[in-house]
Amino acid sequence: MNDQYILAIETSCDETAAAIIRNGTEIVSNVVASQIESQKRFGGVVPEVASRHHVEQITIIIEETLEKAEMKPSELTAVAVTEGPGLVGALLIGINAAKAFAFAHSLPLIPVHHIAGHIYANALVAPMQFPLLALVVSGGHTELVLMREHGSFEVIGETRDDAAGEAYDKVARVLNMPYPGGPHIDRLAHEAQVGVDFPRAWLEENSYDFSFSGLKSAVINYKHNMDQRGEEIDPKKVAKGFQDSVVEVLTTKTLRAAREFQVNQVIAAGGVSANKGLRTSLEQAFEKECISFTVPPLKLCTDNAAMIGAAASYMYNAGVRGDLAMNGIPGKEL
Ligand code: KG4
Ligand code: ZN
Repeated sequence: MNDQYILAIETSCDETAAAIIRNGTEIVSNVVASQIESQKRFGGVVPEVASRHHVEQITIIIEETLEKAEMKPSELTAVAVTEGPGLVGALLIGINAAKAFAFAHSLPLIPVHHIAGHIYANALVAPMQFPLLALVVSGGHTELVLMREHGSFEVIGETRDDAAGEAYDKVARVLNMPYPGGPHIDRLAHEAQVGVDFPRAWLEENSYDFSFSGLKSAVINYKHNMDQRGEEIDPKKVAKGFQDSVVEVLTTKTLRAAREFQVNQVIAAGGVSANKGLRTSLEQAFEKECISFTVPPLKLCTDNAAMIGAAASYMYNAGVRGDLAMNGIPGKEL
């Protein structure tokens, strides 16, 4: 059988990315152009700015990806692209580039869900074992997803307000740290022995849902009260207190779901799974539970196209195809 080579494109938020994946598991080339430096000025992602960057970058990134792989378009099997969720203007740049490339080179087009991509980043590390539980934690999502087989996604819990990454970014802003705040809080949290005691949002006893807006408000109120008293906050203790609360809730609910659904593997995915505190906590919990736990290397946790290519490979094998009428779907359901 011939090897399968998928060119994948991802532009759903503020990274312009392309990759080539062989047989769903091997990265041949993987290029990510981040807009973090220019978005930092605005303290977050400005959709219009993101779209303009994607337009400037996309052709260069696709060419670089092919060059690094030393491949010609005629050697590819298919083109995959993120269909949603994401910023509509940003998604459309990648989708139109993918459509043009597929049309010009007579290749099939595969639409991929961004979150499915984050989950399949793990297929680049180890084979997926079902039933599988995925904790998806990113700037836009916090979800517990049960997978009984390839391509089947059952959302058993999700955030009722802010996503975990969003809470990290907002708390970082309170602490005067640059966007994206997650890595900064993670680093600071490890510099404190004891954190400020912030609440944990467990919600109803059996719920796998999450809520982070109360925690975010608790941090804001804490700072406000300290300011009013003329006292300085210790950013390290605030970061540790905040991170301890997020990590404890995420770990506890993931562990409870893994037990209830008797899964064979637990994986973490999305930008926040790059968090050292969370990785360590999940690793320890599942080692004790004797359940296999996988988390991708840091650069495959945040947005990239390799993960889109990995998901697309399974979709291609299952016969999923897009066409030139494909559109960006900003609120696409998993
Ligand atoms: O998956 P991602 O790259 O983009 C979305 O699809 O949203 O996730 C970005 C989010 C940001 O909120 C960022 O602050 C967070 O991931 N993040 C982290 C860490 N690295 C990135 N959060 C906590 N700890 C980290 N080390
Ligand atoms: Zn993402």
